[in-house]
Amino acid sequence: MKLRGAWSHEAQALSAVHARAFDHAWSAPDIVALIDGPGGFALLVEQGAPAEGVLGFILCRAIAGEAEILTLAVDPPARRRGLARALVEAAAGAAQMAGADVMFLEVAHDNLPAIGLYEAAGFARTGLRKAYYDRGAAPAADALVMRRDLGRKA
Ligand SMILES: CC(C)(COP(=O)(O)OP(=O)(O)OC[C@H]1O[C@@H](n2cnc3c(N)ncnc32)[C@H](O)[C@@H]1OP(=O)(O)O)[C@@H](O)C(=O)NCCC(=O)NCCS
Repeated sequence: MKLRGAWSHEAQALSAVHARAFDHAWSAPDIVALIDGPGGFALLVEQGAPAEGVLGFILCRAIAGEAEILTLAVDPPARRRGLARALVEAAAGAAQMAGADVMFLEVAHDNLPAIGLYEAAGFARTGLRKAYYDRGAAPAADALVMRRDLGRKA
């Protein structure tokens, strides 16, 4: 198993993992635009040949001293093996290297696995965005805003 940087030409494989993790999948062009956009970067965990066996990935943005986790997805059969924890830690390190000293994310208020992961990774709840996630016929879901200080580089 290997954790490494992910590039926009691998967006199709990332989109496939995203589709298995979320009801509203992000398309490959959506992912390309974010990786190649200002401050964008992604990391993946793979097994086997490059981009054949993507097990999970994280997509982030780091601009003007602040980083944001835009999405994080682990393939269902690969869960509870510490992959997301490793991706979050690696992304925090990469964001710090890019000059960020704080990292933010939004997560649905009822996504208990992800909230558990982020709290275990040192994120604290800092705000609430009402009716942030569209859930079609169901009521829109609130988002928790969470933050983690990355510490200033010497
Ligand atoms: C949330 C998600 C990324 C976690 O991935 P994962 O690789 O299974 O997580 P890890 O194995 O690294 O878990 C690390 C810690 O997070 C917490 N956690 C993870 N899954 C959990 C679950 N189902 N229930 C409760 N806590 C959970 C635990 O504290 C866990 O540590 P432990 O296994 O030692 O108890 C994965 O479930 C997923 O892709 N979900 C769908 C997409 C999503 O919700 N993404 C995040 C929102 S942006």
